[in-house]
Amino acid sequence: MPIKRMWSGRFEKTGDSFVNQFGASIGFDQEMAKEDIYGSLAHVKMLKATKILSAKDADQIIAGLEQLDHRLETEGLPFSVENEDIHMNIEALLTEEIGPVAGKLHTGRSRNDQVATDLHLYVNEQLPKVIEVLKQLQIELVTKAEENVETIMPGYTHMQHAQPISYGHYLMAYFQMFQRDVERFEFNKKHTSISPLGAAALAGTTFPIDRQMSSNLLGFNKPYDNSLDAVADRDFVLEFLSNASILMMHLSRLCEEIIYWCSYEFNYIELSDKYSTGSSIMPQKKNPDMAELIRGKTGRVYGDLLGLLTTMKGLPLAYNKDMQEDKEGIFDAVKTIIPSVKIMAGMIKTMHVHKARMEHATHNDFFECHRVS
Ligand code: ARG
Repeated sequence: MPIKRMWSGRFEKTGDSFVNQFGASIGFDQEMAKEDIYGSLAHVKMLKATKILSAKDADQIIAGLEQLDHRLETEGLPFSVENEDIHMNIEALLTEEIGPVAGKLHTGRSRNDQVATDLHLYVNEQLPKVIEVLKQLQIELVTKAEENVETIMPGYTHMQHAQPISYGHYLMAYFQMFQRDVERFEFNKKHTSISPLGAAALAGTTFPIDRQMSSNLLGFNKPYDNSLDAVADRDFVLEFLSNASILMMHLSRLCEEIIYWCSYEFNYIELSDKYSTGSSIMPQKKNPDMAELIRGKTGRVYGDLLGLLTTMKGLPLAYNKDMQEDKEGIFDAVKTIIPSVKIMAGMIKTMHVHKARMEHATHNDFFECHRVS
């Protein structure tokens, strides 16, 4: 028996399964299952308060959604490609749970404001996690810097010896870069903490909804001012991806130096075995794999940013299906930057600094133009 989709009212033919598979996003947007349930809970509570739904219907829907939330936490939910995306999957599961009254949940709402709400909730939740790991990295940097206030090393310009500097001073330069990253992610909250709910498909709804209420229930600062903007805006995702790209660029610069400095020629630092790998055929090797991997992952985060910028660049207002492509990049960026920052913090904490070697590299090289050739 083919599944009846919420949008299939005027359709006579059910879709081809290959086409349906291509159009489906459940493979990746199930990442936002929790956000979808929370968004729906806020929406139905608002429908109840405004008496758009009867208390009886609303309470049934609330209980059903809470049950789904519990199942998601404990055993996971069975999603299917036939139900296309997370929104229709949750609605189908809610219908199984409480019967046809589930359909009333979508009153005064469209998947367009629903998906935007889920994404805002998702990014809103990630921002404090990113800021937290960055602050941990800053703590490791400042701790290492304190231990090395008096460690003298060559400062470079053009990768040539320039002037002697303190290694602590050098480390604090990175501390400052990560401080700006923290501030950028803090600012990111401003454009993320806005509720699209109530914009419906693009032009709002004639139901007497209370957008302020659903916004408050979800912990957002305010509802969007313009309904078309509410469903078409992905700036908050692009801001996250830009911030993530700048952060990765900082990590990558630090990695680059760590990689050089671990080499036999420099030998300024030695990474803990935990963050290095060896070679069976070349036993002298201790490869700074983790630093190389973070440097490598920088490329994929730039790709996530460029992907979404390109997806968005030609889109007319308001929602277009192209925007379904907005999710995998942000999920990927979150899953890349958080572990990268954590690994960097661990690498800094456990690395050994060859202080004497650093200082030795400054001897006889700043005032005289002689080199051994
Ligand atoms: N799966 C869709 C997405 O991620 C949800 C919104 C669908 N809206 C629509 N009008 N087809 O963007």
